[in-house]
Amino acid sequence: MDQTPDDLSELFSNQQSRSGYVKQMFGEIAPKYDLVNRLMTFGLDARWRKAVARAAVAQNSGLVVDAGTGSGELALACARLGAQTVIGLDFALPMLENAQTKSQHLGVPNSHFVSADATRLPLAANIADAWTGAFVLRNIPDLDGALQEALRVLRPGGRLITLDAARLQPRSLIQRLLAPGARFHFNKLVPLIGKLISGHSDAYQYLPMSAENFFTPTEFSLRLRKNGFEVLRSFEYVAGTVMLHIAMKPEAAPE
Ligand SMILES: C[S@@+](CC[C@H](N)C(=O)[O-])C[C@H]1O[C@@H](n2cnc3c(N)ncnc32)[C@H](O)[C@@H]1O
Repeated sequence: MDQTPDDLSELFSNQQSRSGYVKQMFGEIAPKYDLVNRLMTFGLDARWRKAVARAAVAQNSGLVVDAGTGSGELALACARLGAQTVIGLDFALPMLENAQTKSQHLGVPNSHFVSADATRLPLAANIADAWTGAFVLRNIPDLDGALQEALRVLRPGGRLITLDAARLQPRSLIQRLLAPGARFHFNKLVPLIGKLISGHSDAYQYLPMSAENFFTPTEFSLRLRKNGFEVLRSFEYVAGTVMLHIAMKPEAAPE
């Protein structure tokens, strides 16, 4: 059933229904997911994911866990950049099928795709060198649950690298100048392009709403610290509409 803008707004006050909506919606847009991404970011999404993959494999990564892996773009980038093993997890099966097909087609035997919820990873504690998530945390109502799972599976000193759309709050002059264009692109053009190509009426209306209900880069750093991470670096792209954070599970838990 098509969701009205009011239905979509309601999702942000009802965690249970948002999680169900997200799972079903990503399953439905899976066939055109990569194409819409490329078009709406003018191809920049691939570059951002590469920056995440580089940070993830920077320290001789044995195991990289890619939560909300979707069509597997980031997981495959990590595997091809030299991670020993990459496990991509997602709860939308059609997305995982895309990832699996791509992995076989490209011949990337060190990538594996598993159906799982990011708030309940079927993995032992302290085994991952890096946990990555691209455009996923914003979609998880139980954000702290997902961050705690990341902390649990990471080994001490392991890295969490996240890429996501941010709530727009222009600070510098250049960001203020670019903000109206960024808003028009995100709130008007993206829903239109998304609807025309995917045929899905509300998925790409949900996208700007989810960013508006998420964090600014500074707020997100604070949330990472509250969940026990040490924030190492953060970056902002396209007038602050996209943010990348690199954080670490501390070597020793604070007393
Ligand atoms: C915007 S897509 C991003 C996919 C991929 N990381 C990328 O960079 O293209 C978000 C993905 O997260 C998945 N997802 C959202 N919430 C999840 C959860 N709680 N557990 C597992 N996967 C989840 C969705 O099914 C979807 O495939």
